[in-house]
Amino acid sequence: MADPVIGILGAGRIGTALARLAVKAGYDVGVATAKPPAEIALLLEFTAPGARAETAADLVAGSDMVILALPLGKYRMLDPAAFAGKITVDAMNYWPQTEGNLPEFDSPLSSSEIIQAYLPQARVVRGFNHMGYHEFEQDARPAGDVGRRAMALAGNDDAANAVVAELVSRIGFDPVVAGICGPAVVSASARRSSVRVRMRRNLRPCLPAV
Ligand SMILES: NC(=O)c1ccc[n+]([C@@H]2O[C@H](COP(=O)([O-])OP(=O)(O)OC[C@H]3O[C@@H](n4cnc5c(N)ncnc54)[C@H](OP(=O)(O)O)[C@@H]3O)[C@@H](O)[C@H]2O)c1
Repeated sequence: MADPVIGILGAGRIGTALARLAVKAGYDVGVATAKPPAEIALLLEFTAPGARAETAADLVAGSDMVILALPLGKYRMLDPAAFAGKITVDAMNYWPQTEGNLPEFDSPLSSSEIIQAYLPQARVVRGFNHMGYHEFEQDARPAGDVGRRAMALAGNDDAANAVVAELVSRIGFDPVVAGICGPAVVSASARRSSVRVRMRRNLRPCLPAV
């Protein structure tokens, strides 16, 4: 399969880190925020050279995979219809220390389940959540490197999981895929085996055996 066109919504810390790594890995990458593309283009020249600046609407329409790298509290600005059939990587975390309390996320559901319910036709895969933005480039390693870290992915669409897993691997991490039913896997810090142990502890029983 041809490489997916990747659209990143958010040009902040994690959005630009992922844009740099995805461009380096050979993907066609676009980036959008709520601001006009001209403003983002200037920023991208310095933070993610090679990534295109677009409007959010054009970005979503023209991408095969959209990475949500915007503040969680802004998710209702997304147009659900535009996400129909799109592989949608939810990199957003509920972190009241930075965004304040968002009562709808004080829920037994994981934040990605709430995003999936808001974007019912999107193929949501939770990913890129448990590493700090500064760790992505610092810790990226080629496949087979003994120091390569694992990246947990959670999604209930196997084909979408596979496409995101390839991205994860190409940018420098070992993908570990689980079902979407559990809460976020946080603080996973080391290799594949360690992430799997944490998943077993943290996810609800829908998790397939890992
Ligand atoms: N920082 C990390 O290490 C890290 C790690 C894992 C996950 N995360 C999660 O990733 C998300 C982003 O974190 P961050 O640290 O990168 O935040 P950030 O540096 O504040 O960047 C947020 C970006 O989102 C854009 N944005 C705001 N509203 C938007 C909208 N409606 N549509 C499109 N873009 C919009 C902002 O652009 P404008 O305001 O200019 O439009 C900005 O470029 C958060 O949910 C966070 O929990 C962060």
